[in-house]
Amino acid sequence: MASSRSTPQHRLSSSWSPSDGLAPPSLMRGGHKQRGRRPAASAAALHMGFIHLLCCAAALGVLYWCVSFRGGLAWNASNKDLIFNVHPVLMVAGFIVIYSEANLAYKMVGGTKSYKKLVHLVLQGAALVLGCIGVIAAFKFHNEKGIDNLYSLHSWLGMLTIVAFAVQWLVGFIVFWYPGGASYTRARMQPWHVFLGLFIYGLALTSAETGLLEKLTFLQSAKLISRFGTEAMFVNALGLSLVVIGPLVIWATLDHEVRVAQLIDK
Ligand code: HEM
Ligand code: HEM
Repeated sequence: MASSRSTPQHRLSSSWSPSDGLAPPSLMRGGHKQRGRRPAASAAALHMGFIHLLCCAAALGVLYWCVSFRGGLAWNASNKDLIFNVHPVLMVAGFIVIYSEANLAYKMVGGTKSYKKLVHLVLQGAALVLGCIGVIAAFKFHNEKGIDNLYSLHSWLGMLTIVAFAVQWLVGFIVFWYPGGASYTRARMQPWHVFLGLFIYGLALTSAETGLLEKLTFLQSAKLISRFGTEAMFVNALGLSLVVIGPLVIWATLDHEVRVAQLIDK
């Protein structure tokens, strides 16, 4: 994702971005301001870089698991397991990786507010499309194998996640983009939008974790893989990577560094 390229004046505005690699505006007001790089700002840049790295690792990791250990992916196949494999790959890519990046769009992307908004809504939209295709793959797999739908806690959590996400996107679009609410409505809605956006993000992480656990438990109960085998360890590590990504993204979204800077200034 492109990082902010801002003028010094712009940096002193409220839209400071950790990706500037410089101190937040409030940290730059002191005598040492022109030296630029302060520990808080470098830490924020490192934080964002680490999130991108972990997101790439999670996306590649789930793909590697499904291709190398589970036999690959297919939309139509006599081996129905290949249809199922589309599900975890798209859910992690859409509902973890792209969702994480979309949450951080306002902090990472340069340009006008309306450009940042566009990137945010397009990325959230892409997450929704991938998520829907991923869930359709799970239903398709169940239907073609004659397995019941929506019996597990994972599937209930998953449905809640995807429906809540779709509603959040639609409401966000109507209020903040087109036709767009009055400024009073937007101001009232924004804290709710952020809170629900992060709550649904938590739901998505929980759905992904329960999905990984369920699939591993199926494979282990059927004695298809061993408890301490390479595949089980690999999937456990994948699950742990999601647990690390989650709080890092929430922390960065909540603008912790800027708040620290404001407190230091007081
Ligand atoms: C945000 C992420 C996820 C969401 C929203 C989600 C959603 C769903 C939904 C709605 C179903 C029900 C399909 C049906 O009943 O026919 C399902 C099934 C399933 N999912 Fe996920 N899923 C997610 C991630 C994952 C991941 C990462 C895995 C790991 C392999 C996984 C494994 C499974 C399994 C094994 C099933 C079939 C058994 C069942 O219905 O519980 N899911 N998922
Ligand atoms: C499911 C979809 C969506 C989710 C999960 C979501 C989530 C979030 C989150 C977590 C934030 C906080 C970001 C930050 O403070 O840096 C945010 C801010 C915001 N979102 Fe969304 N969003 C979604 C869709 C949309 C859509 C479609 C729009 C339409 C333009 C939109 C407009 C905004 C605006 C205007 C802000 C406030 C930015 C600011 O000034 O700080 N969102 N959203």
